[in-house]
Amino acid sequence: MENNIIAKPKRYTITSALPYANGPVHIGHLAGVYVPADIYARYLRLKGEDVLFIGGSDEHGVPITIKAKQEGVSPQDIVDKYHAIIKKSFEDFGISFDVYSRTSAKIHHETASEFFKKMYDDNKFIEKTTEQYYDVEASQFLADRYITGTCPHCNNEKAYGDQCEKCGASLNATDLINPKSVLSGNVPVLKETKHWFLPLDQYSDWLKEWIVIGHKDDWKTNVLGQCKSWIDQGLQPRAVTRDLDWGVKVPISGADGKVLYVWFDAPIGYISATKEWAIEKKKNWEIYWKPARNADGTLVAGREKETKLVHFIGKDNIVFHCIVFPTMLHAEGSYILPDNVPANEFLNLEGDKISTSRNWAVWLHEYLLEFPDKQDVLRYVLTSNAPETKDNDFTWKDFQLKNNSELVAILGNFVNRTLVLTDKYYNGIVPERAELNENDKTIINEMAKYRQSISGSINSYRFREALSELMNLARLGNKYLADNEPWKLVKTDETRVKTIMNLSLQITANLAILAQPFLPFTADKLAKMLNFKELNWNDAGCIDLLKPGFQLNKPSLLFEQIEDAAIEAQVKKLANSKALNETKAATVKAAKQNIEFEDFAKLDIRTGIILTAEKVAKTKKLLKLTIDTGIDKRTVVSGIAEYYEPEKIIGQKVSILVNLQAKEIKGIQSQGMILMAENHNGELVFVSPIKDVIPGSEVK
Ligand code: 2FM
Ligand code: ZN
Repeated sequence: MENNIIAKPKRYTITSALPYANGPVHIGHLAGVYVPADIYARYLRLKGEDVLFIGGSDEHGVPITIKAKQEGVSPQDIVDKYHAIIKKSFEDFGISFDVYSRTSAKIHHETASEFFKKMYDDNKFIEKTTEQYYDVEASQFLADRYITGTCPHCNNEKAYGDQCEKCGASLNATDLINPKSVLSGNVPVLKETKHWFLPLDQYSDWLKEWIVIGHKDDWKTNVLGQCKSWIDQGLQPRAVTRDLDWGVKVPISGADGKVLYVWFDAPIGYISATKEWAIEKKKNWEIYWKPARNADGTLVAGREKETKLVHFIGKDNIVFHCIVFPTMLHAEGSYILPDNVPANEFLNLEGDKISTSRNWAVWLHEYLLEFPDKQDVLRYVLTSNAPETKDNDFTWKDFQLKNNSELVAILGNFVNRTLVLTDKYYNGIVPERAELNENDKTIINEMAKYRQSISGSINSYRFREALSELMNLARLGNKYLADNEPWKLVKTDETRVKTIMNLSLQITANLAILAQPFLPFTADKLAKMLNFKELNWNDAGCIDLLKPGFQLNKPSLLFEQIEDAAIEAQVKKLANSKALNETKAATVKAAKQNIEFEDFAKLDIRTGIILTAEKVAKTKKLLKLTIDTGIDKRTVVSGIAEYYEPEKIIGQKVSILVNLQAKEIKGIQSQGMILMAENHNGELVFVSPIKDVIPGSEVK
């Protein structure tokens, strides 16, 4: 099989999942996708490889239009806002994209349209008219997340038309039990509509050959497992268009009001971003995506693997990056396929699933407000605990522990001791080595192995292991200092101390290089202290990185302790989020059953003003009110005495149901009911107009 030919790639195209621009990014995003992708890209660049690292915002799809509707703004407003926030967070955390684009860009619309058009012209789609859910009241087809209902697999009542987030099943809207429109809450009707489908079933054998056989040894088990299960279940044609008005318009006639499915256009965003970059940098985009071809269109033998394409994603994106997008690339015909898709599992937070809607997350922009200049601490903790093979948990206690007892106590401590002693003994000038003893030789041999072992782990996408090796090198340095105690020897054997310090400095220099992909801010700081102009991965292992007589700069601490108070503040912040959610869950009741408009129209609700108020004798809860309803002045008994002093509510504007059958309460005829809302503390609050209206105005 072609994948078995192992030739060194000439260049790397590295993509990272395009986050939806409908909210900021959190630690789960960083841990799952962007930090590993960045480590990989930085490592390759440091080796002198030709790397294109691509990112961008995914700006289409129903969650964005729903959010826009909720906030009363346009979808473009939503994506403009979050694209800027997300882009800044990535910059702040040193995610070294060569380009960070967006799918609402013109170049993306053009690229995605061309891609679709080429496949359409080559008859790669099936055109089908099917029945889809339609909201009569909103006059709209209910694509994907515009519809909710009960998942047929796990009975989750909040499953979406395209997916159940509880059990992860991928759904068709028509699979849902009790479907409901998100727009109106109504039960939708079925209506015919025409769409274009990618016949995945026709590619099943090809996919099996390419993934299950071809990549059985180099793809991660979690990725292979999901792919096999999709293929074994039998692939079905998938619609690649939708009846929506936000997205890339379907570029053929007879497709008015239809756009490309967000999962069709988003991965093409990687290609559009490459084009955007190439235009700006005056480069050729095609070599990053297409194999070399002869004039007659055939592939140039031996050059098929020149570009290595790697997709970094989270596990929820596996099917799209391993099955759907590769099928699109293959069917389109002119592109290369991914060499690997090292998907991660999920990161939880303090034992609970990260959730935007429940505000159960550590948002990157908020983290930086609370821990400015501690980007590398988070990068470190997320990498050392990366969900590479199973879901993992982030806790603030662990964050503190890893900072204090690893970054400060191991890496920071070694570097600091070495640089401070060099400064003290030699004014920061690198001392000369004398004769080496056995211990020195062992250390030199050991040190030489790290570049290869770390490279090996990174090349196999095992970033946790790579980082732990880096820390082992710092441990080695600490052990060397502790075994040789230069601070004691300095009184008796200056020559020996020079050798020890020289070797410790070489280890420090090695650390600066090898740490760069993982901890770029720290590596830069260290490189400045070492007066290094440039870091090069291939120099690591060398014991002459710092020549005798070379002047270093003044040292400063690489890491600081994180105190309990800072951690407690974060834990408290999360506890507040949880408490707020529990209150919300407790107070926001599920919607009642739908009613017909005629039922609502029977209610006669008017605005009114309280004219008099007094306590009803021998009761705790009741007030007797006289209300000017505009129609008349009438008496109403209301259960609000616990919350309001009678004299304080004279003149209060209210909404009152005036056609409620009169009822005797404690001997008083109550003629109607005033409307109250219950707040989160269980208090009743008046529902009253916020602008002036005369008593008797209809509430409708
Ligand atoms: O899951 C997500 O956040 C998607 N927006 C990822 C898209 S990746 C790619 F296809 F663009
Ligand atoms: Zn489910």
